[in-house]
Amino acid sequence: MEIVDLRSDTVTLPTPAMREAVYHAELGDDVFCEDPTTNRLEQMAAERMGKEAAILVVSGTMGNLVCTLSHCARGEEVILGDRSHTFLYESGGMSALGGIHPHTISNQPDGTMRLEDIKAAIRGDNVHFPRTRLICLENTHNRCNGSALSAEYIDSVAALAKEHGLLVHLDGARIFNAAVALEVDVKELTANVDSLSFCLSKGLSGPVGSLVCGSSKFIAEARRTRKVLGGGMRQAGIIAAAGITALEEMVDRLAEDHKNARRLAEGIANINGLSIEPARVQTNIIYFELDENRMTAKELVTELDKKGVKLLSLASRRFRAVTHYGISAEDIDLTIKALSEVMKAV
Ligand SMILES: Cc1ncc(COP(=O)(O)O)c(C=O)c1O
Repeated sequence: MEIVDLRSDTVTLPTPAMREAVYHAELGDDVFCEDPTTNRLEQMAAERMGKEAAILVVSGTMGNLVCTLSHCARGEEVILGDRSHTFLYESGGMSALGGIHPHTISNQPDGTMRLEDIKAAIRGDNVHFPRTRLICLENTHNRCNGSALSAEYIDSVAALAKEHGLLVHLDGARIFNAAVALEVDVKELTANVDSLSFCLSKGLSGPVGSLVCGSSKFIAEARRTRKVLGGGMRQAGIIAAAGITALEEMVDRLAEDHKNARRLAEGIANINGLSIEPARVQTNIIYFELDENRMTAKELVTELDKKGVKLLSLASRRFRAVTHYGISAEDIDLTIKALSEVMKAV
């Protein structure tokens, strides 16, 4: 049976072109900055993001951690959303390893934090308070319906940060999904942030890796931090080669994933017993809910699994589906059919 795996875009496998690129990759020792393929990827990433420099790290989690540790000293504070990936799903790395204090404020359903809430969270100069150093944004916002934050919003947060002498980091794990959905050059979304990380291993289908981008001075510091974390890789060109192909070939096709996500959301909206707001679906992530306790989320996932469709259940009645490379319009129709059958049977 063919499996339609909608749990995450991290399940994507490298394309044949990536495997070919890995096979032919020119390699060296990247801790000595002598891996030509990694150097090329880092230069490409910096150019794409409109920054001076970039560095390859193992994962999105390491990218965000390298940035918070490089920007902040022990006892300093980071303002971030209460539904941000960094706060919820990165093992509390900034406090565990950096003694950095996370200060959460509410994420709105569109992934933003209200400017007035950010402003209210910025600490005054008082010995009782930690010093605020950094504001973190997430684009697209995973837990907030895969929403894309606009350049205007990001710039308004950056202006507020500047006014208060603060820095801005952008968790851009899916920044290309945001750029494609908003139909803007990705640089417009990154122009005014001090650092950002983006993932090769999600919608872009690379096997491993994320890039951290920023000023040359910041990336030199990030290189030290990456080493401290044990993230200095040697012949990293094996990873970077696939990453170059991902950047060259896999960005524009994200529009197809967004189209499939909308098709799925519209299909789900017509199924009795399931709730979704299709208008919230902007990119490749959709959330929906079971209306009533006709079955548990676990039961629904198990029944769908039997029909070859995999979803993530996140809470007692809430589900996530993510479209990606390898999921076709036919797979979406098959998923809608499977969901209808499961819901009719209860
Ligand atoms: C928004 C966001 N940031 C960061 C990450 C972390 O990436 P990784 O799984 O590569 O550590 C994820 C992973 O899903 C994510 O969705």
